[in-house]
Amino acid sequence: MPIIVAPDPEIASRHAASLIRRAIAQKPNASLLLPTGSTPEILYKLLTDKVAGGYLTFAHAQTYNLDEYLDLPQQHAQSYYTFMWKHLFDKIDIKKSNVHIPSSQPKNHQAYCQKYEKKIQKAGIDLAVLGLGQNGHIGFNEPGTSFDSTTHIANLTTSTTKANARFFSSSAEVPHQAITVGLATIMRAKKIILLAFGANKAGVIQKAFEEPPTTEVPASILQNHKDITVILDQESAARLRKTKLYPPVLSGIKLYSRFNLPRGKKIVFFSPHPDDASICSGALLKSLSKNNKVYEIIATTGHRAANHGRGKQQRIKLRETEARQEAKILGTKPIFLRSKFYDNGDELPETDMKKARDLMKKINPDIAFVPNKSDPHPTHAMTRKLALAALPHDISLWSFESPWGPFGHHRFNAVFEFSNSLMSAKLAAIRAHASQTERTPFDEAAHSIAHFRRITIAEQLFSELGQEPLATQPHLELYQITKW
Ligand code: F6R
Repeated sequence: MPIIVAPDPEIASRHAASLIRRAIAQKPNASLLLPTGSTPEILYKLLTDKVAGGYLTFAHAQTYNLDEYLDLPQQHAQSYYTFMWKHLFDKIDIKKSNVHIPSSQPKNHQAYCQKYEKKIQKAGIDLAVLGLGQNGHIGFNEPGTSFDSTTHIANLTTSTTKANARFFSSSAEVPHQAITVGLATIMRAKKIILLAFGANKAGVIQKAFEEPPTTEVPASILQNHKDITVILDQESAARLRKTKLYPPVLSGIKLYSRFNLPRGKKIVFFSPHPDDASICSGALLKSLSKNNKVYEIIATTGHRAANHGRGKQQRIKLRETEARQEAKILGTKPIFLRSKFYDNGDELPETDMKKARDLMKKINPDIAFVPNKSDPHPTHAMTRKLALAALPHDISLWSFESPWGPFGHHRFNAVFEFSNSLMSAKLAAIRAHASQTERTPFDEAAHSIAHFRRITIAEQLFSELGQEPLATQPHLELYQITKW
């Protein structure tokens, strides 16, 4: 039973969203059993993003909800009906007739439960997604519920009504009964994903998956399911001792999004020419500069590539003005090294190294970005050499990809995924270098690479590992992170 531990609920939910997308890609008319509560909120947001991006469709899918409070009017703000429409169904392309949520006010309880159970059995659940109560409940199968239970009316325990009181204006309002599918109903699903986040789930996760199954911990029955994936964050996994845990991406490629970036660090970016930072890493730099101090160390003046009609000094001035405009967009601080090697050939003069070393001593960075090892562009290769000669050891070194030096297969170990709006900022930063984009459309090149990477990396990982990468955003920048 794979137990996957993600750094945080966001990445955990991405993994779940990928599994759901895969299930629907394989079977467009799949039947899903779905939970409510705080746990699936990020997941539902990610699914709606996938649908909006055209990566996923629920047009033929059917959904069944695990449970609903009893005697709460359907339109009540806290009914599961309201929750599901607000967080998911209103935002995706599902047909209303394919949505099934137990009624909160059935006339004949027993007959209704049987009817709901029959409907589910007839559909056959392909994938059940579950949250987990602090007392071990799944759906509203409270401790003591028989492992053979099917859809029934459950009396909620005090611990459950207490936990759910946070959603109601007063504890007196919290319903004491619910209609829920049973443990046997859940176990008949072909595949199950259980999600649990936060320190308050750590104890019950340990009991449910490291101790023998018991009706006192209803979720422990899941140990007997042959296709279950448990997806946790660090906090809910904290008490597991006996189980082999997996990171969310088995390939060793770390996925960064705007949610899990370094914070509070001093970062230097060695940009060979004034525009390389934006072309290669504009999206990541823009995101990093929000919570870090980011210095853009521009190694050369780049005057050779500016419009040739003007004098050298004018061309330098033009490129540095453009670099300042770019830095404003990205939120970075530009520093111009004006290295001599750019004009003097293949040697790295001592004066260049001293200047770079003195600067690094002053900044004392925690993270440095440098051109990647196999970037064949001579100025990029020299800039890497210069940076490595100047950087202190024991820092995190992020080698970046450039249009001249795309990473080969498995030559990168981290990807940063980003949205269309961050792509717009990246493009604006690249276009600040008008002297360059009027010569060569580097904005188009950067846009194409980022999108191409999103598509092909998904394909590579999928075919090699049978696992979709977690990225849900349309663009990627690639990095090789090592210790220096
Ligand atoms: C709700 C459900 C419950 C919840 C559980 C955790 O449909 O089936 O089992 O999954 O109570 O709730 P949260 O996610 O709010 O911690």
